[in-house]
Amino acid sequence: MQHLLTQNPIIPVITLDREGDAVPLVESLVSAGFKIIEVTLRTDAALSAIERIRTQFPDLTIGAGTICSSKQITQAEILGCDFMVSPGATPALLEGAKKSPLPLIPGISTVSEIMIGLELGYQDFKFFPAESLGGVATLKAIFGPFREVQFCATGGISLANMGQYLKQPNVHSVGGSWMVHPSLIAQQNWPEIHALSKTALATAYTLTKHRPASTS
Ligand code: 3PG
Repeated sequence: MQHLLTQNPIIPVITLDREGDAVPLVESLVSAGFKIIEVTLRTDAALSAIERIRTQFPDLTIGAGTICSSKQITQAEILGCDFMVSPGATPALLEGAKKSPLPLIPGISTVSEIMIGLELGYQDFKFFPAESLGGVATLKAIFGPFREVQFCATGGISLANMGQYLKQPNVHSVGGSWMVHPSLIAQQNWPEIHALSKTALATAYTLTKHRPASTS
């Protein structure tokens, strides 16, 4: 999992209200260079949208986001997702996900949640909601006692602030919706989503040690 995230510094976090938007939206992301996406399971359209995306983009790395229950873990497995992301970290969810073939990136917002995750064998976490939790200053403080832990920082990330996150030794990636904002999807503004995505990836590769993922 860490290898995957190190090679993909940005994960677009997609929330879809209309199944029909799934393929054109993802086409605009893939043509901009993204090889990884997260689709949140927080809308009625999410499951059928992921099904369409899986069929149309067999090589794309697809994460199921907003995983909060064992039922959603099973749904992500059935849909052929590659990984899962949760907003928080309950012991039941962390233990349940350990039985899944899909890796889970658990969301954490406290040091105690990191410790619970470490006890259960997790080392990669989603730091959420990053900006509200103190952002880079908090990540720097966490790095002191937890040098082995790596984060995908998510929540309030933008083109303007992602660089400071990606430069942290304990941040391998950021997640965000700024290039796939719900208002852009509602307008079906695929050209703007494509342009924002290209700018985001070019900026990330320039700012950081990250390199584009191989096509294999
Ligand atoms: C989410 O789960 O909504 C993601 O963290 C996206 O956050 P953002 O909309 O602030 O980028």
